[in-house]
Amino acid sequence: MEEENASLILEGSTPSILPIPDEIDEHFGRGPGSKGLREVFHNSVMTGSRTRSVLLLHHILSTSYFPDGPIRILDGLGASGIRARRWLTELPIEQSKRLDVHVCDILPESLEWVDKNIQRFDLDRSIKLILGDLRSRVLEGGWHWIDLDPYGSPIPFLDPVIQALSRDAILEVSATDTAALTGSSKGPTMRRYGAFVRTDKWAHDSGLRVLMANIARIAARHDRSIEPLLSVWESHHLRVSVAVKKSKRGASSVEKYIGWRIANPTSEELQSSIDANLHPHGCPERSQPFCFLPFRHPVNHEDRRVSGPLWTGPLASKEVLSSMNLEVAEKLCIPDTVSLSSWGFSSDEHSTLIEQSKKSITQSIRRFSEESKVEPSSSLLIVDRLHPHIPLLGPPSPTKLAEALTDSGYSSCVASYPNPSILTSAPWNIIYDIALEISNASIE
Ligand SMILES: C[S@@+](CC[C@H](N)C(=O)[O-])C[C@H]1O[C@@H](n2cnc3c(N)ncnc32)[C@H](O)[C@@H]1O
Repeated sequence: MEEENASLILEGSTPSILPIPDEIDEHFGRGPGSKGLREVFHNSVMTGSRTRSVLLLHHILSTSYFPDGPIRILDGLGASGIRARRWLTELPIEQSKRLDVHVCDILPESLEWVDKNIQRFDLDRSIKLILGDLRSRVLEGGWHWIDLDPYGSPIPFLDPVIQALSRDAILEVSATDTAALTGSSKGPTMRRYGAFVRTDKWAHDSGLRVLMANIARIAARHDRSIEPLLSVWESHHLRVSVAVKKSKRGASSVEKYIGWRIANPTSEELQSSIDANLHPHGCPERSQPFCFLPFRHPVNHEDRRVSGPLWTGPLASKEVLSSMNLEVAEKLCIPDTVSLSSWGFSSDEHSTLIEQSKKSITQSIRRFSEESKVEPSSSLLIVDRLHPHIPLLGPPSPTKLAEALTDSGYSSCVASYPNPSILTSAPWNIIYDIALEISNASIE
């Protein structure tokens, strides 16, 4: 449906009107693959990230994380404000009425579209608009929640944004400069993130950990500590969500979870990793794909096996992962037909739209329930990189491997990661024997 040169779209259970792009282009606005200046940016590939944002906010507001009272929440690089409108439209009324929502954008046209959407869909709790550069406007401060979704790297924004958070706050950060974070553009990896990343099959996991380490170190400079809540690599972007607390003591221990990833470690390196509680698999005498080493462990910066400094601790919270289940997501993020009609969607489209929303939310939280059951210290093991550490004739099925490890008492699961992989904290001897058994059985 079209009106006033705008198209009507649905995301989750939130309608939007957006300008029709000059060219037929899924990603309209200035962004990856599009250099031209358009009226407002919108990228449907980020739907999953916005769904998770609604679910995280729902979870946090269901806990006592924030004291009673209004929550000052900022969609810092808001574009059409779709994320902020999803918070208001999809959360239960008892939660959404606590939100004091602001959207900031440097382009007046973006905020005009936020406003058009507020008017068109009659959002009863209005959104406050902030026109200007987030880096200066955010310093008004006292934000309980800030979402940072930039073009490219979030680094230019992190320092002012972290300073502007309240004592207990949540920060969500996207990054689309994946070439820098995964080490394939070495110059930007070093100059933006102060790190080097080995470009192997763990590179996206390393990228998430390099981003997390940068957030932790910037937070520490401002007497704050972080706790990772969720970390996701999806399509062209990485995204991490963290709880940030004012704590000098926590900030001084920033080093606790910062260190190095060593590919193909020696037995001495494995022993140091075990001694530092960074390697749940034990077995220093047997060859293994990688281990983490603490920040103070001497590493040779010319050694191509090394990635870091990066975050060596858990990348997500069990509670957050288990809270993001299909039952909750369907309740919040699937529209009803009465609302669809009132927003102007014709009844012929209803079932397709509901199906699309269901499919998209299922995809956005795929595997979280299983991941919530494994030990937070679990390692990401990529099945076709178990060889040559285990003499396999072919990679074992991740599902079979995770199930067999779980059956032997070590809760494991298939990981939501681009390369077929599992999350496990099982001892290496057990992984070795089970992987061999599965691989041999599959070729018999
Ligand atoms: C990737 S888009 C954000 C997409 C949006 N969060 C969403 O979910 O659709 C980045 C937005 O940041 C805005 N922007 C860029 N630099 C900015 C700055 N320094 N301060 C405020 N906004 C800025 C752009 O105009 C653009 O609308």
